Amino acid sequence: MKSIVIQQPGKLTIETRPLLQPAPGEVRIKVSYAGICGSDVHIFHGHNPFAKYPRVIGHEFFGHIDSVGQGVDPARIGERVVIDPVVSCGHCYPCSVGRPNVCSELQVIGVHRDGGFSDYAVAPAQNAYQVPPSIPDSLASMVEPFTIAANITAFLKPTPQDTALVYGAGPMGLTVIQVLKGVYGVQKVIVTDRIDERLQMARENGADWAINNQHQSVAEPLAVENIRPTLVIDAACHPAILQEAINVASPAARIGMMGFSGEASSITQQSITSKEISLFSSRLNSHRFPQVIEWMSQGKLNPEKLVTHCMPGEEIEAAMTLFEKDQRACCKVLLKF
Ligand code: NAI
Ligand code: MN
Ligand code: ZN
Repeated sequence: MKSIVIQQPGKLTIETRPLLQPAPGEVRIKVSYAGICGSDVHIFHGHNPFAKYPRVIGHEFFGHIDSVGQGVDPARIGERVVIDPVVSCGHCYPCSVGRPNVCSELQVIGVHRDGGFSDYAVAPAQNAYQVPPSIPDSLASMVEPFTIAANITAFLKPTPQDTALVYGAGPMGLTVIQVLKGVYGVQKVIVTDRIDERLQMARENGADWAINNQHQSVAEPLAVENIRPTLVIDAACHPAILQEAINVASPAARIGMMGFSGEASSITQQSITSKEISLFSSRLNSHRFPQVIEWMSQGKLNPEKLVTHCMPGEEIEAAMTLFEKDQRACCKVLLKF
């Protein structure tokens, strides 16, 4: 089988490896589509503190089960599946409270163990979720990025009465916008980004008002319209955003953050406590695959609106360069294996 391997930061090879065999409790997936995520590029460049090398990257992938390990029902062979990349121990404190995504022994497929940019991949059988025929092969790998939006919104509990502000109109911001609109029916969703093309995508994904904040803070147009968002989600993740989000938010607002920057954010207690702001953080997803598969098959989400490119797996380096360098033209890039 052929696998895309980051041998060490900066060095990518397409390697011929012996066909993987599923261990007890695992399934083997013949991969057909996989999505490129910012974190794949970070592992390539050596900017992911969790990654161990050499590593087969890719955590957004779809295929069918073609072999099962000991203890797994052979009737699962042939199932069309997407893979939850979160592998957890099942017995630590976070696992015991239903939060395997922050398991104390967390292993993320494609980061801590080999992933889906490969002809074949293995995963624990319970991480392989069957996809109904209403979700086409070419869009099924989009389930994973929507689970991130499902996870953060589960904390924030959006309502139709909310006025939401989303920072960033990349893949994460767009999935968040779609969930706010299509699932929770939030009446007013405002998005801010510095790139006009991305703001246009945000409108196509359901945003009601798209504000370019390259030259002026989003606080100004919001003040002119006398709007104080009741829900803010930072899907751009620059450390300076949190204080601005707190400042523009309504009293009693909820703020969701998803960034991993190691740089300090400077925030005052007063600005949070005086408005009794609730702050939530969200990492990956906790058992959100079934929910997202249901939303997608009910037509509440439109994953095709994020996909701008699909390229053969062998063109991975070109695909990653395009994804990284051309944020105006590119959103989600899929690989076909
Ligand atoms: P992306 O880089 O494609 O999109 C980020 C967007 O934010 C870009 O369009 C950029 O122009 C915009 N932006 C940057 N600074 C801004 C600012 N100050 N104000 C407004 N917009 C600004 O990245 P993607 O894939 O959408 O991911 C976004 C962030 O989410 C990343 O930082 C990533 O690490 C994080 N992330 C977190 C996850 C979690 O589970 N917590 C999972 C996946 C991604
Ligand atoms: Mn991802
Ligand atoms: Zn655990």
